[in-house]
Amino acid sequence: MRLLKIVLFFVVFQVSAQQGGMWIPSLLEGMNEDEMQSLGSKLTAKDIYDVNNSSLKDAIGHFNGGCTSEVISDKGLILTNHHCGFGQIQSHSTLENDYLKDGFWAMSMEEELPNKGLFVEFIVSIHDVTDTVLNGVADAMTEKEKESQITKNSNEAMKTWSKEAWQDVKVKSFYKGNQYFLFVTERFEDIRLVGAPPSSIGKFGSDTDNWVFPRHTGDFSLFRIYADANNRPAKYSKDNKPYQPKHFLPISLDGVEEGDFTMVFGFPGRTNEYLPAVAIEHITKEYNPTNIAIREAALKVIDQKMKESDAVRIKYASKQARIANAWKKWIGENLGIDKSNAVEKRRAFEATFTKALKEKGWEDKYGDILPEFDKLYKDFAPINIKRRNFIEVFLVTNELMQMTFRAYQVERALLSNPNSLNRAKAGLVGRLKGIHKNYDVDVDKGVYLNVMPLYGKKTDASIYDKTAFTDLDSALKLLEGNADDIIKNLNNDPAYAYAKPIIEEFINTLDAEYQQKNGPITALQTQYMTALMKTLPNARYFPDANSTLRVTYGQVRGYSPRDAVYYKPVSYLDGVIEKYVPGDYEFDVPQKLRDLYNAKDYGPYADSNGKVPVCFLGTNHTTGGNSGSPAIDATGNLVGLNFDRVWEGTMSDMNYDPEICRNIMVDLRYVLFIIDKFAGAKHLIAEMKLVHPKN
Ligand code: ARG
Ligand code: GLU
Repeated sequence: MRLLKIVLFFVVFQVSAQQGGMWIPSLLEGMNEDEMQSLGSKLTAKDIYDVNNSSLKDAIGHFNGGCTSEVISDKGLILTNHHCGFGQIQSHSTLENDYLKDGFWAMSMEEELPNKGLFVEFIVSIHDVTDTVLNGVADAMTEKEKESQITKNSNEAMKTWSKEAWQDVKVKSFYKGNQYFLFVTERFEDIRLVGAPPSSIGKFGSDTDNWVFPRHTGDFSLFRIYADANNRPAKYSKDNKPYQPKHFLPISLDGVEEGDFTMVFGFPGRTNEYLPAVAIEHITKEYNPTNIAIREAALKVIDQKMKESDAVRIKYASKQARIANAWKKWIGENLGIDKSNAVEKRRAFEATFTKALKEKGWEDKYGDILPEFDKLYKDFAPINIKRRNFIEVFLVTNELMQMTFRAYQVERALLSNPNSLNRAKAGLVGRLKGIHKNYDVDVDKGVYLNVMPLYGKKTDASIYDKTAFTDLDSALKLLEGNADDIIKNLNNDPAYAYAKPIIEEFINTLDAEYQQKNGPITALQTQYMTALMKTLPNARYFPDANSTLRVTYGQVRGYSPRDAVYYKPVSYLDGVIEKYVPGDYEFDVPQKLRDLYNAKDYGPYADSNGKVPVCFLGTNHTTGGNSGSPAIDATGNLVGLNFDRVWEGTMSDMNYDPEICRNIMVDLRYVLFIIDKFAGAKHLIAEMKLVHPKN
């Protein structure tokens, strides 16, 4: 018995010791390379990242700054999620050509649709510039002094870095400012929409299935990168040519099964893995619940109106998805933290840290950090909540309030600098047009009445009848004349007059207090990171996500979310049919897909059991921004497309637990099946390189 326990402990430890982390691609040699190989990878660090030869990283593009995409043909074809291309698909959609509902397929390059503002950025090389950036930064300096020295050094490093004319550079902080890297990048700006399945495939299950497994969503869309005559980044031109990439990913028709190695390569946005227990407690017990409540109140109105009207559905599709996504994520995050006893575990870890400090005799140096966190957070909590609630009401959910907020910024700009008139006005005109493109007064008024009380302010529905902001033409009239006229017009508007004192309270009091109280926490977090790495040098440290290119790896694995329940790692087309509810806004299934299923017309895309795999789970540590990231097999082929995490595992942004945290990927065979058999876009399949690495 005793022996068994030891063995079990060892096994569990082994699994967890080798999981978790989002690693810097240029630093994989050694520990990561060994770990990956022990998990089944046949790749070397150089296969993944190489500056002198083409490598996997050359196929990975940051999609519009918020998602990931990968090149899958020598003609610049890229794959990302349906929900990443959603805004573009929506913007090309009308009631007559409803690409959201029916899907879109360009049957030739001439039919591919340009997208204003959309870009894809590749990483050319990564360089450690820590010494340069921290040069002249001393412990004795104030936080402000440190910051300005760091900014100065970073700017200098970027200015003097040698690069090609069409490239860019940026410097990013890692390990809370303990390390700095410079990135040389190439940004392509002529990106055209190639294909998207109908939402009943690309968003199948919608909010009910979002963040959960078993999942059956074909969350993908296709775009193409165009470049100039020299294959370099260029603005849109009809003369541009399909981009010839340094590398593109072959696609495996063999898939992966439980226990197989996978790595996910992409641009994770933001994680917070080194928070003290007191912060996790604040976020999950106090902060999340209030923001969840505000979003829920908004969604109640939006969801209802979208079901009632197709016009509203098209207008609010993107906005609704954005609001609902974080709303549901936060609920899952709270559940996961609770269920895994994350706070207690973090406290236990802190005790280990404190003990190690004692043993090393470093209490003088670092012993105050944790008690200081307790003090700072207690003071910070109320203002953090209040400030974020304002953002949720004024900038996330309620559009009239958002318009008044933007207008207020113009008034401020004009008062402090009358010469800013043209620029400030142009900015606001752009904002107003953007909002009105997808605006419905009824929806917004309902949202206002629901959310404002949660921010503790009295509502006045009559402002919606009297304001100029709810109609684009009359809103633009407010901006006619000179600076004085504009300021007068704005202040005479009833919605503006209603919102102004609330906005001023936010800017002058709430946000100011927030900045003042958040500064010391950020500084302490930097110190804590340094202290941890020095005091417990053998723990597993990986830098928090910061929208830079990272590698995460693991294996295909199911999981057990609660007693007696085990989720197998793969879902199948059979499950789509099981979930089918005719005419339902979340679970309808297109006739064509049901026909293919009934005829078992799967082409080469079924697995060895004759079933079409749809989604699968892995132990890859991912976060928002990893959407659209490729899941790559042991020999460098594309097998999956990352798009989500499981409900109980969304806490991984603060507390990665290999027992329960899983990322969700679409199986590439389902993607190919939809492109080929469902959409009949065989010319796209012909562009790709399909391989059979398993035989
Ligand atoms: N949860 C995934 C992510 O965080 C997918 C979101 C898109 N889907 C949706 N139903 N809103 O982005
Ligand atoms: N759906 C997320 C995104 O848009 C990825 C899933 C996650 O947060 O893990 O990036």
